Amino acid sequence: MATAVSHKDLVQTTRMFLLSGLLLLSSCMYSLIDEVEGRVLIVYLTRTNNTEAMARIIKEQVGGDLVEIELVNPYPEDYQAHVDQVVEENNRGFLPPLKTKINMDDYDVVFVGFPTWGMQLPPPMKTFLSENDFSGKRVIPFNTNAGFGVGSGFRKVKELCPDAQVLEGLSLEGGYEKQGVFLTIKGERAREVKKEVETWLQKINIIKE
Ligand SMILES: Cc1cc2nc3c(=O)[nH]c(=O)nc-3n(C[C@H](O)[C@H](O)[C@H](O)COP(=O)(O)O)c2cc1C
Repeated sequence: MATAVSHKDLVQTTRMFLLSGLLLLSSCMYSLIDEVEGRVLIVYLTRTNNTEAMARIIKEQVGGDLVEIELVNPYPEDYQAHVDQVVEENNRGFLPPLKTKINMDDYDVVFVGFPTWGMQLPPPMKTFLSENDFSGKRVIPFNTNAGFGVGSGFRKVKELCPDAQVLEGLSLEGGYEKQGVFLTIKGERAREVKKEVETWLQKINIIKE
């Protein structure tokens, strides 16, 4: 009789132990701040996939919908022709039309990712920010570049989203197409970027530990 009771006790204690372990584990995992759950958009422009790699890392940590910006008339494959076209578009303030259309009413938090082009925000991202209304939303820019930084990119995001709360962006080194270096955010570098993204998201209060 005494043995049967202590066996029952043992089962119960083990159950309690496992349950508290599970609770402890879940409290240590990332959690998105409650109010933005399910209302996150990660929209990005990419040519050689570095900004896309960063976008996917953000999605892993925050969730939300991932959307690549596509143009009605894609840029030339040739790098120099592409650079020349961007210079010309920036000079005349041309906003290239986009194929991508998004219902912004569905989102409260919008991550906006882009490569540096000519030390500026790329023309298609200027189009995207100009043709959508971000009032009352949190806009979070991110960037990859060839080592020369984001240039005026983050400032331009603020200028084009005057009624949004634009949070601190993160700019990281990506590829260097001019030197034949394409996707670099992979393998060990992707693991490093993951850590940098995590630290940034915690700093701006999008995820907590
Ligand atoms: C048209 C064009 C212009 C660029 N201009 C710059 C620049 O001014 N400064 C810089 O650091 N990188 C520049 N880059 C390099 C990209 O910003 C860098 O390779 C970035 O990681 C590419 O991102 P993606 O792989 O998502 O396309 C330029 C690339 C292109 C295609």
